[in-house]
Amino acid sequence: MGDQESEQSRPPIAEQPPAGEKRPGSEVSLNMPLAEAMSTQRAIRRLTDDPVDDGLVLRLVELALKAPTGSNAQNWEFVVVRDPAVKAALGRQNMRMWKIYGGLGRWLARNDESQQRIMNAVQWQADHFEDIPVIVVACLRSIIPPWPPMATTGLYGSIYPSVQNLLLAARAAGLGAALITLPLWSNIAARRILGLPWKVTPCAVIPLGWPRGRYGPTTRRPVGDVVSLDNYGNRPWAGQGAGG
Ligand SMILES: Cc1cc2nc3c(=O)[nH]c(=O)nc-3n(C[C@H](O)[C@H](O)[C@H](O)COP(=O)(O)O)c2cc1C
Repeated sequence: MGDQESEQSRPPIAEQPPAGEKRPGSEVSLNMPLAEAMSTQRAIRRLTDDPVDDGLVLRLVELALKAPTGSNAQNWEFVVVRDPAVKAALGRQNMRMWKIYGGLGRWLARNDESQQRIMNAVQWQADHFEDIPVIVVACLRSIIPPWPPMATTGLYGSIYPSVQNLLLAARAAGLGAALITLPLWSNIAARRILGLPWKVTPCAVIPLGWPRGRYGPTTRRPVGDVVSLDNYGNRPWAGQGAGG
């Protein structure tokens, strides 16, 4: 739907720009194997204040745009935030919600060391929001109605694949990134801060920068525990997959 051009009529996808053509930001390699990028990508919230080139950010967004959208509408908008005043305003929104959510979360996770570590990282990000080199806000050029579910899912589903692409590209470049939504708790405030028209909805915030400190592997549920065969709950692969 939407895109009438057949696959055969397209030129082959070049892995690299033609010889002699240097794209801005191309000095950072993005050639990490896909499975490695996918298995090592994680929420990295502690970032240095070292600069991140516009060229690199644009390249990441360019890769984000390879994602699918419903009806190939390509109804995305990305706001790259560098202005300290705009970062600070988003940071205040983030902190406002974090004070409520984090206070409750800390109490609920008071006996869970790994959750406490996540909370410490979220706190660090909240305290240093203004110093983060670049903040990308992924938006959809549409209002997202709460109902019917097909419309809601189709619209959110048209922005999150691009966000995941962006996260993977950032990982391949060696940048730290995280998908966050706390700064968007008030859509009205986020729209005002970013100067978004009413028909553009901010959906996800991705702070970007070079990682500070060392990050271990992610912990995820084993594949066999989340996959059913034919009918929900029929789990012939239960117990399979390393998880961790
Ligand atoms: C929809 C969504 C919203 C999120 N919002 C926030 C947020 O507001 N703040 C934050 O620090 N992390 C946020 N996260 C990041 C998750 O906490 C993180 O992906 C999860 O803990 C896994 O982290 P890991 O990949 O490092 O294991 C969000 C993730 C998703 C998918």
